[in-house]
This record gives sequence, structure tokens and C-alpha cells, in this order.
Amino acid sequence: MVRSRSSANKWKYINPSYYLKRPKRLALLFIVFVFGSFFFWDRQTLVRDHQEEISKLSEEVIRLQDLLEDLKNDQSVSGETMNFSHSDGDVGKKIDYTEDPVDAQRREKVKDAMRHAWSSYEKYAWGHDELQPQTKNGVDSFGGLGATLIDSLDTLYIMGLDEQFQRAREWVANSLDFNKNYDASVFETTIRVVGGLLSAYDLSGDRLFLEKAQDIADRLLPAWNTPTGIPYNIINLSHGNPHNHGWTAGHSILADSASEQLEFIALSQRTGDPKYQQKAENVILEISRTFPDDGLLPIHINPEGKAVVYSTITFGAMGDSFYEYLLKVWIQGNRTTAVDRYRKMWETSMKGLSSLVRRTFPSSFAYIGEKVGDSFVDKMDELACFAPGMLALGSSGYGPDDSQKFLSLAEELAWTCYNFYQSTPTKLAGENYVFNKGQDMTVGTSWNILRPETVESLFYLWRLTGNKTYQEWGWNIFQAFEKNSRIESGYVGLKDVNSGVQDNMMQSFFLAETLKYLYLLYSPPSVIPLGEWVFNTEAHPIKIVSRNDRAMTSGAGKSAGQQKSYKRPLTRREGRFGNK
Ligand SMILES: *[C@@H]1O[C@H](CO)[C@@H](O)[C@H](O)[C@H]1NC(C)=O
Ligand SMILES: *[C@@H]1O[C@H](CO)[C@@H](O)[C@H](O)[C@H]1NC(C)=O
Ligand SMILES: *[C@@H]1O[C@H](CO)[C@@H](O)[C@H](O)[C@H]1NC(C)=O
Ligand SMILES: *[C@@H]1O[C@H](CO)[C@@H](O)[C@H](O)[C@H]1NC(C)=O
Repeated sequence: MVRSRSSANKWKYINPSYYLKRPKRLALLFIVFVFGSFFFWDRQTLVRDHQEEISKLSEEVIRLQDLLEDLKNDQSVSGETMNFSHSDGDVGKKIDYTEDPVDAQRREKVKDAMRHAWSSYEKYAWGHDELQPQTKNGVDSFGGLGATLIDSLDTLYIMGLDEQFQRAREWVANSLDFNKNYDASVFETTIRVVGGLLSAYDLSGDRLFLEKAQDIADRLLPAWNTPTGIPYNIINLSHGNPHNHGWTAGHSILADSASEQLEFIALSQRTGDPKYQQKAENVILEISRTFPDDGLLPIHINPEGKAVVYSTITFGAMGDSFYEYLLKVWIQGNRTTAVDRYRKMWETSMKGLSSLVRRTFPSSFAYIGEKVGDSFVDKMDELACFAPGMLALGSSGYGPDDSQKFLSLAEELAWTCYNFYQSTPTKLAGENYVFNKGQDMTVGTSWNILRPETVESLFYLWRLTGNKTYQEWGWNIFQAFEKNSRIESGYVGLKDVNSGVQDNMMQSFFLAETLKYLYLLYSPPSVIPLGEWVFNTEAHPIKIVSRNDRAMTSGAGKSAGQQKSYKRPLTRREGRFGNK
């Protein structure tokens, strides 16, 4: 009963006459209706927004899970195999990758080498530039900027050595001080410190690294204030006052002056301040005005005027990374028309490179010679062994014929470089080689300072061809380092690759480059894919960002569009080292 009465009472509320007699209630009902619909509409919008966000988030979760899967795979030494079908962006043909259990074991061995090198540095040389392992002390060969530590950040990160990375990060946050009364090399500081910090930033997303990179770059920048825009090679970090080495008679060195583009362009993209990019690109613009038909430049250039300086032409010491960066700026800009000019200059230089290629007798090893004026010199630095990797990386930008031609040249040169190692009693390469008729190759300068160039090239060749031979060669080189260079307190170079007598220096590039390239040689190609990253000349990977600005015109980099196009990548361990 009670029920029926109550329901009968309710019915009157939907009878219009009830409200017509009560205008206040009608108004109230109207207000309730308006607010109600607004509320409903608002919820709907919120729900839609949330759904979008959720679907984005779940995409990211799926991506992160994939990456975590990769990571687990990274660390597994089990017999599991995984097939990756990948294309390194458009830099290579599609290669089917099958994880080989041997790869996982080798990767683990390389990681162990990094642990050993790093813990020795931590124990005996913490905060110093480099470790002297025999005497167990640190030395400040770069002004006391923690060169080994900064050079190692990305290697530690990529290898998943998280605790070590965190300790290094704390040092950068609390103890890294650039205000040093020290005459620093602009080039070495750029490739190691600016490059290392930028790479750590791109990988971890931690803005601390970007701020530090900008701080040191600001201290280097006055070096570019010259009549031509070609920088002086030395600057005092606390006082400025840029100048050149005494031994170059006031001239600048080609590689030192014209391989800061990757770092400075990246810095402008990430900070939104175009000045770094402008300074670095103006150098190439200046050089392009008098670029020779063979694209080969002597290693000394004049920062004060246009006079050509008589000196050596080489793909080894003091020339090398100039050519490397012509290609890599093109790749960094994602091969757009804005960076076309770099590619054209590079192709011109590769004609020049081809003109320097000779073959030994009797074994017909291909090598890249040098030139002084018109005379040809039958000598090649181990440093020039980066060239096979560069040629392989650049081969994809050519039409099919040239592409095959340069890839074949790359493979031939890599064979030669591998033999620089195999031909000595220690199986480690000397610093340079001379080529006399009838003797193939002979060690010139006989030290080995743990250099990376040959394993760097093997890494590129393996990534781009999928040919496992290059992994085998890399493994033999790694084992020679383990045998000759590993001591209880780190890794040392050799004073002589014939006798095996050791030196007392663990070069920072051993951790930055040699061990990183070896690690990647046994990792799935999805770890630092070449379609997304470009390595600076110290092996620091920097994210590729498509460029739409007009490159190398005065005011290059001013276009806002370019700065906007930089989105910080979401990377494997974003969540853990996170954005602050
Ligand atoms: C990987 O590929 C190989 C050959 O293409 C095939 O035999 C093997 O079954 C694949 N493994 C997995 C786990 O898919
Ligand atoms: C740094 O530059 C200042 C100013 O030119 C100079 O006086 C000082 O000697 C330099 N320091 C070193 C270590 O060369
Ligand atoms: C792999 O590379 C080596 C060395 O360049 C070469 O001799 C061999 O023919 C290559 N293998 C394949 C399958 O291309
Ligand atoms: C580079 O360009 C290709 C297309 O040409 C595009 O698919 C890719 O996403 C671009 N990469 C970056 C990092 O912008």
C-alpha cells in the first residue's frame, strides 16, 4: 500500500500543469536542466579526452613492453633465440636478424670488460679525466672535466649498468665544474664533453645533462670569433682568449675546426638557441666557397684569411672527422633538402678518397694513401679505419651502381684494417702502416692506444650487410685486447704491438667508443637503430631530427619550425631515469 501511494504521488511531478501553476519550480527545473546538460556534455568531452590519452598511454606501454623485452633479451645469456626483422631506417636493405646465443654471450663479455674498466676508474681516478692503471692514479689530460666519466655515461646507460650511471650522474650534478683556468682543445672538449652530455640527455631525458652541455658550449663559443668564422683550436675555459697551437704556425687544424657540427646543431635544436648551429655551419659554408674538385683539403687551414696552406691531405689524423661529419650532418638532418649540400660535398670528397686508394703487393690489400702537395705517400693511419664504416653508411644515398661500388670498397678496406690487427704478434694494430712493394703492410708507429676505428667500421658493416664475418673479426680484436691490455686495475695500451710492452693509460675513448661499438656489434639492431640515431666521432649517439630550415645560409637555424620539430625521444628506460 505504502508503495502504491508513494508512486501515485510521484506521477504528479511529470504533469506539466503541476509546474505551470508553480513558476518558481518551473524556473528551478529549467536551471537544473541547463546545468545538468552542461555537466553531461562536459563529462562526455572529458571522457573523450581521457580515451585519447589512454589509447596514447597504452601505445606507449606496449612500446615500453617491447623495449623491455628487448632489454631482457639483451641480458639473457640463455640459449633462446629471437628473430628481428628490421630495417635500419632507410640506411640499409631489410635484414632479417636472428639472435644468436653466441651474440648474447659475447655481449655479456664486453659488458664485463666495461664493468672492469669503469670500476677501476671509479676506484683509482674518480672525477679525473683519465686513469693511469699501472700507477693507479688519475690524470687530467683535458683540464679536469671528468672526461672518462662523461665519455662513459651513454655506454653505461646502453649496457644497462644503472647503478654506475646513477653515480656518474650524481658527480655531474654535484662536482662537475667547467670554470677551469685551462687551455682546452675546442675539438676534444666538444666531441667528448658536449657530445657525451648530449647523448646522455637524449637517452635519459634528464635535463641536467643538457644544461651542462650548454654551459661548456658557451665557454667554447668565442673560439669561432675569427675573421673567417673558422675557429681557433684552443680556448681557456675560464678566461676565453682563443688561440692556436704554436706548432701549426698560427693555423687551425682541419678536423679540429670543422667537426663540431653534429654537437652544435643538436644543441641548438634542443635548447632553441640558434647561435651554436650558426657558428658551426658557417665553417662549412666558408669551406664550401673554395672547395676543390676532388673535395680533399689539407690539414691546416687559415682562420684569418683565405690563403691556402700547404700541408698533408689525409683521412687519418687531423683530417678524418671533417669528411665524417659532412656525411653525418646529412644523416642527422634526416637527409632533407636542407642538408643536401653536405651530402654533395661528401660525395665530392669520396671521389677524392677513391683517387687515394691503392693496392698492396702481393696480397692486394686496398688502402687509402696520403698526399703532400703532388707527391703520394704510401701510408695509412689506423685512425683512417673509420672510413670503411663511413663508406658503408653513406653508400645507401647513391644510385644502385655507386652504392655497390662504395660498399665493396668499404668491405675491402675493412679487410685491410682487420689485417692491421691480425698481422702483428699481439694481434693488435699499430698506430699506422706503410706499404712497400713486395711486403704488403708494415707497422710504422708501433703503439696501440686502444683505438676504436676498426671495430667501429665492423659495427657498421655488420649492421648494414648482416654479414656475420664482421662479428667474428670484432671478436678476435676484442680477445686481443683482453689478452694484451687487460690488467688488474683497468685496460692499458701497448707501447709496441710487436713486443706487447704496455703503457700506462686507459684512454677515455676506450669506454666511449671501443667497448660501445663492440657491445652493439653483438646486440640486436633495435638497440640504437641507425635510422634514428647518428654517432658523433666519439661514438656518442645523437637523435636524428628532420631539418626543414635553409641550411648554411646566413641566419641558418633561425627558423622556428626546425626547433619545434625536436621532440625528445621516449627511450627504453625513460620511467626509471625520468624527466625531472
Ligand atoms: C628464426 O628464423 C629462423 C630462420 O629464418 C627459423 O628457423 C626459426 O624458427 C625462427 N625462430 C623463431 C623463434 O621464430
Ligand atoms: C688561461 O688564459 C689566461 C688569459 O689569457 C692566461 O693568463 C692563463 O695563463 C691561461 N691558463 C693556462 C693554464 O694556460
Ligand atoms: C661476408 O664478408 C666477407 C668479408 O668481407 C666476405 O668474404 C664474404 O663473402 C661475405 N659473405 C657474404 C655471404 O656476403
Ligand atoms: C626521416 O624521414 C623519413 C621519411 O623520409 C620518416 O619516415 C622518418 O620518420 C624521419 N625520421 C625522423 C627522426 O624524423
